[in-house]
Amino acid sequence: MCGIVGAVAPRNVVPILLEGLQRLEYRGYDSAGLVVVNNSRLERVRSIGRVAELTARSAKTSGHLGIAHTRWATHGAPSERNAHPHISSDLIAVAHNGIIENYEELRAQLTAQGYVFTSDTDTEVIAHLIHSHYARGNSLLAATQAALAELVGAYAIGVVAADNPDQLIGARKGSPLLLGVGGGEHFIASDVSALLQVTKNMVYLEEGDVVEASLHGYRIFDAKGQAAQRPVHVSELTNDSVELGEYRHYMQKEIHEQPQALADTLEAVCNSQSLVPGIFGAAAAAAFAQVDSILILACGTSHHAGLVARYWLEEIAGIPCNVEIASEYRYRVSVANPKTLVVTISQSGETADTMAALSHAKEIGHEHTLSICNVPESALVRLSKLRMLTRAGPEIGVASTKAFTTQLAALFLLTIVLAKQRGRLSKEAEQQHLHDLRHLPSAAQAVLKLEPEIAKLAEHFADKQHALFLGRGLHYPIALEGALKLKEISYIHAEAYPAGELKHGPLALVDSDMPVIAIAPNDALLEKLKSNLQEVRARGGELYVFADAGTRFHSSDGVHLMQMPEHAGYLSPILHTIPLQLLAYYVALQKGTDVDKPRNLAKSVTVE
Ligand code: G6P
Repeated sequence: MCGIVGAVAPRNVVPILLEGLQRLEYRGYDSAGLVVVNNSRLERVRSIGRVAELTARSAKTSGHLGIAHTRWATHGAPSERNAHPHISSDLIAVAHNGIIENYEELRAQLTAQGYVFTSDTDTEVIAHLIHSHYARGNSLLAATQAALAELVGAYAIGVVAADNPDQLIGARKGSPLLLGVGGGEHFIASDVSALLQVTKNMVYLEEGDVVEASLHGYRIFDAKGQAAQRPVHVSELTNDSVELGEYRHYMQKEIHEQPQALADTLEAVCNSQSLVPGIFGAAAAAAFAQVDSILILACGTSHHAGLVARYWLEEIAGIPCNVEIASEYRYRVSVANPKTLVVTISQSGETADTMAALSHAKEIGHEHTLSICNVPESALVRLSKLRMLTRAGPEIGVASTKAFTTQLAALFLLTIVLAKQRGRLSKEAEQQHLHDLRHLPSAAQAVLKLEPEIAKLAEHFADKQHALFLGRGLHYPIALEGALKLKEISYIHAEAYPAGELKHGPLALVDSDMPVIAIAPNDALLEKLKSNLQEVRARGGELYVFADAGTRFHSSDGVHLMQMPEHAGYLSPILHTIPLQLLAYYVALQKGTDVDKPRNLAKSVTVE
């Protein structure tokens, strides 16, 4: 995951920037860079590899103002030219996390204005855009605000200008950024751990905030450009702890990290016009050309990701797909097809059943293996020929959240790559999918805004013993995941059904004590789902409907509507997961359970 650190101080900031980057190393990265302002010039040092390499290269660099970045590329070799910060006209430097959705359009505009691009990143667009406003006589703050107004997407940025040696600008929308307040010095960073070396006073920037910091003070402006006051939190963390920041629990933090985690996982999409099999490993193109079917093996939440992928793979890529629970597959007598691609999905990469299922698949004759995993170099990844790493960063809450949504993002990439390879995807359709993927982080951010409403809704569940989750098609596995989240952390018995199955049994359970949660996207099955929900209302069941735009649901007696912002087509399951995670979280708070460490459960299940 990418990380940003910035500093303005009466001392040399290079050691602070480097120490900050080191503290962010746990997020994973493959290149790093920094810029300092020195004698009205930008001095930039970048390197691929470890922060230690950047440190060695920065020995002669110093300055009182600077920004630094760790980048984790997913597409092609990570290179020095793509490492941040990016510079425009020797004057403006920018470090950036996130995805700029309209970067192609902006790149074309800026190229027409004479800007020359020296990297393949979307970030460089931001540097040139800020420069274009700065060159017209705007202050650095105003130029940044004007540039941000033209960006579509999710981002956190740090900005400095060569001729402005006392001004550090930061901004966030969709990706985290905070301000560290020292005595006569100020800092920005992606997370607290980078700044504990210099201060414990942290200001968490809110969505759309821009901060202008100098030696003497700082000003924060909200999304509308109005001056804003944000509280200063005194961090109780030590330099060695994994930070919770402004959140009460890791699960809450990890739910909120999803826009950034998705942006990191999708970085390959952001900087390319088309997807290539190489994102799954050098041998992927040859392997994918030989496969005629997919077998997905996983446990728990990761198994649910596989169930969603099955819909995508069969519909979009036209490839037959089976999904099995790893602990069942490993002991089942099954028939191997050497042309099947065996895909294992795991957050930890060390789940015993998933590893054993993969070994079993290999033993009975499966040759093509791919792991989708959140832990690089984990045992599972090493057991597979091909791999795709999700970039969710460490997940600490036992109930998986950001690992799941990033697994889905990775599986969608797999779907597009296979669809292309099998001649099932027009250029236009590929561009549309890429466009939708670029938009995903900011769409996820918009869904998170439902949090206060969901917290209120959760009060209805405090005294419930049971709950029923309904979905159809692509969203049936999301119903399963919503039910799993609720039972894992609130200990309410929850079951999920495809809504069409209601009348074949579960309808017998429905009464006013049984909340029924319906996942209601604006898709082809909406009208069918509405009929199923009528069956519930007719029996006095209380409905909690998570509907997106255009579904024409209304709150009424016994119907509680949670209005999702937009319908995301094939990517809708990713967005519909988020409110269900929040619901489980707030119900657990009502119940007073140990959210991050629910009873009887473990994060990594390394035993059978
Ligand atoms: C445990 C965790 C779940 C997870 C499952 C599979 O049960 O509590 O959150 O989904 O293991 O783990 P994996 O690391 O293989 O995804």
